[in-house]
Amino acid sequence: MTDADTTLPIAEATPDDLEGILKLQYLCYQIEAERYDFWTIPALTQSLASLAEDLRTKPVLVARMGDEVVGSVRGERTGDDFHIGRLVVHPRVQRRGLGRRLLREIEARAGDVRRFESYTGYRSTEFLAVFSGGGYRPFREEKVSDRLRLTYLEKVRPA
Ligand SMILES: CC(C)(COP(=O)(O)OP(=O)(O)OC[C@H]1O[C@@H](n2cnc3c(N)ncnc32)[C@H](O)[C@@H]1OP(=O)(O)O)[C@@H](O)C(=O)NCCC(=O)NCCS
Repeated sequence: MTDADTTLPIAEATPDDLEGILKLQYLCYQIEAERYDFWTIPALTQSLASLAEDLRTKPVLVARMGDEVVGSVRGERTGDDFHIGRLVVHPRVQRRGLGRRLLREIEARAGDVRRFESYTGYRSTEFLAVFSGGGYRPFREEKVSDRLRLTYLEKVRPA
């Protein structure tokens, strides 16, 4: 992999991306697991079959550099809400605006929902910064373990 420019194309994931997404997810969530000493984060234990099911049922986006998946995000509509999850960018290409672009692109696939929601660990500065920049605000916290609290974020579309 060589250094990327800031305009890597973002596309719908295909079955050929499954292993790449899982690999990237695994790499990126190591930091989260270490941060909270919580090694059973769903992103780290997800199977290929479960990810394939996500691909069949939800919008899943990837940014590729050559053949390699270097960014991904997915969404899921539930009624009037759109849940955004697994936003990951390879450390090699972080801080170049790709996370922000992936967030915008997945929101664009939400349809006519009223509200967007996501969550992350309460000390996950990078994630909180990207979502805050996208207009999200924290609205709830949930304790998972002594070291991990989740911060839930939302953005409500004006009526
Ligand atoms: C969160 C993540 C997807 C951000 O991706 P990214 O492509 O680096 O983000 P962007 O370059 O679009 O950053 C957008 C803005 O977010 C903020 N930001 C991003 N990373 C930051 C960091 N490490 N520290 C402080 N602010 C940060 C900045 O305001 C940045 O704008 P700027 O670069 O102009 O200052 C990436 O850091 C990642 O994959 N992390 C590991 C996985 C993870 O933590 N997932 C969430 C757990 S639920």
